[in-house]
Amino acid sequence: MTTNDTRVLRAELLSFEDDPGEGDTPAEGSVRHFEDGVLWIENGRIRAMDDYTRLAPELPEGVEILDHRDKLVMPGFIDSHVHYVQLEIMASYGRQLLDWLNEYTFPEECRFAEREHAEALADAFLDEMLRVGTTTAQVFCSSHPVSVDAFFTASQRRGLCMIAGKVLMDRHAPEALTDDTLGGIRDSERLIADWHGRERLGYSVTPRFAPTSTREQLDAAGGLLRNDPSLWLQTHLAENTGELDWVAELFPGSRDYLAVYEQSGLVGPRSTFAHGIHLDQAMRGRLADRGANLAFCPSSNLFLGSGLFDRLAAREAGLNVTYASDVGGGTDLSGLATLKTAYQVGQLRDQPLTAWQGFYGLTLGNARALSLDERIGRLAPGMEADFVVLDPHATPLLARRTSRCRTLGETLFALMMLGDDRTVAETWAGGRCQHRRDG
Ligand code: GUN
Ligand code: ZN
Repeated sequence: MTTNDTRVLRAELLSFEDDPGEGDTPAEGSVRHFEDGVLWIENGRIRAMDDYTRLAPELPEGVEILDHRDKLVMPGFIDSHVHYVQLEIMASYGRQLLDWLNEYTFPEECRFAEREHAEALADAFLDEMLRVGTTTAQVFCSSHPVSVDAFFTASQRRGLCMIAGKVLMDRHAPEALTDDTLGGIRDSERLIADWHGRERLGYSVTPRFAPTSTREQLDAAGGLLRNDPSLWLQTHLAENTGELDWVAELFPGSRDYLAVYEQSGLVGPRSTFAHGIHLDQAMRGRLADRGANLAFCPSSNLFLGSGLFDRLAAREAGLNVTYASDVGGGTDLSGLATLKTAYQVGQLRDQPLTAWQGFYGLTLGNARALSLDERIGRLAPGMEADFVVLDPHATPLLARRTSRCRTLGETLFALMMLGDDRTVAETWAGGRCQHRRDG
């Protein structure tokens, strides 16, 4: 996983120490920024990060300094919710959630019964993630255990920090995707034993959403979490109004959608609920009380016509919001694109997203909400060396725009609105450069 190499980069450096708040300027002490900084990597971890003039005398004699002085280095981006098995059905036309699942998603996921297909797509997905600067994600595989083995094997080979799990579904899906209720749990136990805590990998218990699991399966999923509190939990919640009606019909004994998950013990500090668009403030408060997080998936929410996420209502409830692509419902894997679309959704709700809040969210904010902040999300001594090298001059247009920026806040905003995979000059993970843009 790690290398014994020492690597030293000289670049503009940016890292968050805390939530910068909602203001135009970041809260005092929330940002570490060095216009001319040095990032010193050793054995896959950050050894030091400081101003060039301060750190230069301490560097090993004769060490090569990789000169990125016209670039901006920040921690690798984190995607809190994405389906690797849906990569090839991105941009499938014209349906809302439930029809989209039946028409495109389920048939596609059936293909992941085959090991070779799963292996090819796991590699293709990781190539794409690294191309857009994402070094960690919480990932849905399919219901086939082999799809999880393929994903973790590919992630381990690259030394990546990844969280993933096997989809649990024991009803309302094609037979080829449907678990035997407890068989799906036993498969999950086997995968947990093989992968959870192995190198940089972690397991997320993954009931797809309430309509595709019986109460018995949800309860058994809750049992897995009770047995091992270091596991994660990922599912979907209150994304679409048709889904809401269906859940009310299927679980008449639950007072609302969230209660279905609460009753099975699925709501805790390591639980990520994707979407959470159609919630009231009391439900947000219940999620906040348990320390769970909502994954805001703006491009998916627009693509599937699901609704406009109320980010500030979540914040007011003290509820953690994470940022996610939700590919294949989402239309872009890029964290920069996720921020752009989050800003646009925010504009329609009169709650625009500052670049400070956005880049905090993609890095330390997501790391904290996923309980990964002891390892990733900041450029600081001892942290695992996952970072992106962004190029503010990546295209002629971006160069023109950023040449007019007078402050870092303006440059960050231009990057989040105009950036794409071309903006990511390099992506490093585990102390190694794993993606370098051509040219
Ligand atoms: N709800 C249940 N399954 C899915 C899925 O695969 N994608 C999205 N966006 N929502 C879901
Ligand atoms: Zn999803």
